[in-house]
Amino acid sequence: MTADHYALVTGCNSMLGLAIAQRLVEDGFNIAAHYHKNHERVDELSARFSGRVLPVQAELDERGVASILECTKTLNLRVLVNNAATIVAETPADKLNWEILSKTFAVNAIAPAMLALPCFERMKTGGGKIINISSIAARYGGGETTLHYGMSKAALDALTSNLARRGAQYGILVNSIRPGVMDTDFHTRNTPGKNMEKRMAMVPLKRLGRPDEVAAMVGHLVSKNGDFITGEIITIAGGD
Ligand SMILES: NC(=O)c1ccc[n+]([C@@H]2O[C@H](COP(=O)([O-])OP(=O)(O)OC[C@H]3O[C@@H](n4cnc5c(N)ncnc54)[C@H](OP(=O)(O)O)[C@@H]3O)[C@@H](O)[C@H]2O)c1
Repeated sequence: MTADHYALVTGCNSMLGLAIAQRLVEDGFNIAAHYHKNHERVDELSARFSGRVLPVQAELDERGVASILECTKTLNLRVLVNNAATIVAETPADKLNWEILSKTFAVNAIAPAMLALPCFERMKTGGGKIINISSIAARYGGGETTLHYGMSKAALDALTSNLARRGAQYGILVNSIRPGVMDTDFHTRNTPGKNMEKRMAMVPLKRLGRPDEVAAMVGHLVSKNGDFITGEIITIAGGD
């Protein structure tokens, strides 16, 4: 890594996104820090690591992805972490509709692909690492009200497999991380009534995951220690 190396991380204002961005900046990368509506955590990160964090605001739709690519086109991009995602709305399978499925896929699978594909082309010279933040939901196909989310994360994992196979010859290494239930505000926002104690009891290690534990895996993968790891789906879920 050299001083001009950049990592693009989406959804940097989320607890997990922030932990990942913070880990990467501490490890020596400059960060193109994508955020959506909220930006307090990105502001703090920029203030703390002055000159090394480039905030990039965008909705993850066709126009927004194009603007992220435009803002980052002159950067020496060596890492992409597709972290932003949405559940849109907790919805029982029999109530799912085109709109919810389309929006979920747009943010969780199509936008990551439309970011990763041009980044992949750029990384063909000099190599790079792409990490897709998937979910344990891809393994189970989502829960009672999150089939759409689980499906979109499974699509994201397919992107990982394809890019990893095609990227090896260029030194582009691509992996998915599947977090289990994490201690983030994701649940309080998306499922305010959910009994987290009950969900936690289903985890063999009987606790929620911490954002820094996922960030540590990202740090490992982008470091030299990750140079022989590609095409993997790495689950960090306490045995779940
Ligand atoms: N928390 C968990 O238990 C858990 C478990 C497994 C996997 N994960 C995965 O880990 C990643 C981060 O999770 P988290 O818990 O930190 O989630 P989070 O708090 O919900 O963060 C999601 C991020 O994505 C951004 N985002 C959502 N919709 C967007 C859109 N339409 N356009 C652009 N950005 C958008 C949000 O920005 P705004 O808030 O500004 O909209 C936010 O920064 C996600 O990929 C999630 O699927 C989380």
